[in-house]
Amino acid sequence: MRPEIHDYDLLRFDFGSALRRVYGVEDLAALIPAAPMERLTWQTDQATEYHAMFYKEFDAEIKELYREFVADFVPSILGTKEFCFQRVPTFRLHFPGNVAVGEFHTDGDYNHEDGEVNFWVPFTNAWGTNSVWIETALGNSDYQPWKLAPGQVLKFDAVHWSHGNKVNDTGATRVSFDFRCIPMTDYAPSEKRTVDAKRGLWIGDYYDVL
Ligand SMILES: [Fe+2]
Repeated sequence: MRPEIHDYDLLRFDFGSALRRVYGVEDLAALIPAAPMERLTWQTDQATEYHAMFYKEFDAEIKELYREFVADFVPSILGTKEFCFQRVPTFRLHFPGNVAVGEFHTDGDYNHEDGEVNFWVPFTNAWGTNSVWIETALGNSDYQPWKLAPGQVLKFDAVHWSHGNKVNDTGATRVSFDFRCIPMTDYAPSEKRTVDAKRGLWIGDYYDVL
């Protein structure tokens, strides 16, 4: 399954405004760390204070909108209303001079299993070295960046297709989140957990249903 770009109604699902409130900025692409930040690794790429702010404010600022978005957007893409979805999306900040994910990988490397469909949702313009780079065919390790604008979603098979980040030399920060869904026909309760937050990869922990 090659990656695909899909559109959504940016006015109805205005995540950007919620995120600007959380960070107290007018332009998310201009958000930069208050102090110099070491290059992130797979161990630290979810551990900055900016990530903590997102997850702390998620219930108050984003959860309701996110669930409405999942309910509206996902069924037509998956072709079913019967699916589970990542209860809290994974937040990403790709600052200039840094990466947002620590290494090129497949999500399968991190205990994720067959059946997951990954949705990558940027809230700033994403291009070149501030975007996600995905191999151009399964297993070829030949990476290209994906160019997206707010209002677009990249659907891809992150479990199998290798992807990652370059050091951002665009001068603009990329802010995004990504989440996984599994059609219930493909869902089998896993006994595995995520490698960072140690969330159980089953409905009731990492996954939820509407
Ligand atoms: Fe990934």
